[in-house]
Amino acid sequence: MLRSTLLAAARSGAVRAAVEAGPFDPLVDRFVAGTTVDAAIAAARTITADRYVTIDHLGEDTTDRARADANVAAYRMLLQRLGAEGLADRVEVSVKLSAFGQRLPRDGEKIALDSARHVCEAAAAVGTTVTVDMEDHTTTDATLTTVGDLRLDFPWVGAVLQSQLRRTEADCRDLAGAGSRVRLCKGAYDEPESVAYRSAADVDLSYVRCLKILMAGEGLPMVATHDPRLVAIARHLAQRYERSVDDYELQMLYGVRPRAQTDLAARGLRVRVYLPYGTEWFGYFMRRLAERPANVAFFARSMLTR
Ligand code: FDA
Repeated sequence: MLRSTLLAAARSGAVRAAVEAGPFDPLVDRFVAGTTVDAAIAAARTITADRYVTIDHLGEDTTDRARADANVAAYRMLLQRLGAEGLADRVEVSVKLSAFGQRLPRDGEKIALDSARHVCEAAAAVGTTVTVDMEDHTTTDATLTTVGDLRLDFPWVGAVLQSQLRRTEADCRDLAGAGSRVRLCKGAYDEPESVAYRSAADVDLSYVRCLKILMAGEGLPMVATHDPRLVAIARHLAQRYERSVDDYELQMLYGVRPRAQTDLAARGLRVRVYLPYGTEWFGYFMRRLAERPANVAFFARSMLTR
C-alpha cells in the first residue's frame, strides 16, 4: 500500500516540481551524487578506485521535445568529460528512453531512438558503452525494439530486464546470445498482477530462473541487486557455468549497501555502481523510498524541519 502510494507520487508532476524546487535534502544526497556534472565526475572518480560506474543523468517522462534534446546534450557533455578525464574505461552511462521523448504523442519512439543513437555515437567516440534502463511494463516492447535497433550499429548497447515481469524469462532467452549485455533487476515500478509477480518471493524465484538463463548463455550478465542471497546465487552460478570474474558484473545503486560493494570488490569481483545526478531527482528518489519504507519516516521528518 505504502509502496504503491510512493510510486504514484513519483509520477506526479505537481509534487515533483514543488519538491525539486526546494533545497537538496541530506537523504536525497545519499542516493543522488549531486545536481551537476562536476559532482557526478567527482563521485565517479572516487568510486573507480576499486569499482566500475554507470552514470545516469536524471530525467524521465519528458513531455516536450526541447527537454528531450536538452537531455541528449547533457549526455553528450557528460561523455566528453568522461573521455577528457580518462574515466571512460571504467565508467559507462545509463539512459531512460522516456527522458528522450519516448512518450511524446507524435513520433515519440522515433525521437527516442534517434536521441539514443546520438548518445551511443558520443559513447563510441570515447570508447565506452550505454545501457538502456527499463521503465514500466507499458514501455517494455518499445524499449526492447529500440535496443535491438541500436544494437545493429552498436552491438555493445545493454538492455535491462525486470524479474517481476512474467514475460522476463522469455526475454532473457531472447537476449542471452553472444556479446549481449543484460542488466537483470527486480523492477522498481508498481505493476498489475496481470503482467507481474506481486509477492517478493515470486519476484525472487523469477530472478533466479532468469539468472540461470543469462549465466548459461553467451552474453554478459549484469546482476543488479543488493539482495545478499541473490548475490550469493549469482556467484555460485558463475562458478557452475565457468565464468571468470570478468564474465559477469555485480551492480548496485549509489548509496545502497556501500560496504557490501567495497567488500565484494576487495574479493576481486567486478562491481559496478549506478550513479545518478541532476536536478530531476524526484522520481528516482521516490522509487528508492518505496524500496525501503524505513527511509520514509526519516525523509518526512527532515522535510518538516526545513
Ligand atoms: P530488495 O529490494 O529485496 O533489497 C535487498 C536489500 O537491499 C534490502 O533488504 C536492503 O538492505 C537493501 N536495499 C534495497 N533497496 C534499498 C534502498 N532503496 N535503500 C536502502 N537499502 C536498500 N529498476 C527498474 O525497474 N528499471 C531499471 O532500469 C533499474 N535499473 C537498476 C540498475 C541497478 C544497477 C540496480 C542495482 C537496480 C536497478 N533498478 C531498476 C532497481 C531494482 O529494480 C530494484 O528496485 C532495486 O534494486 C531494489 O531491489 P533489490 O534487488 O536490491 O532487492
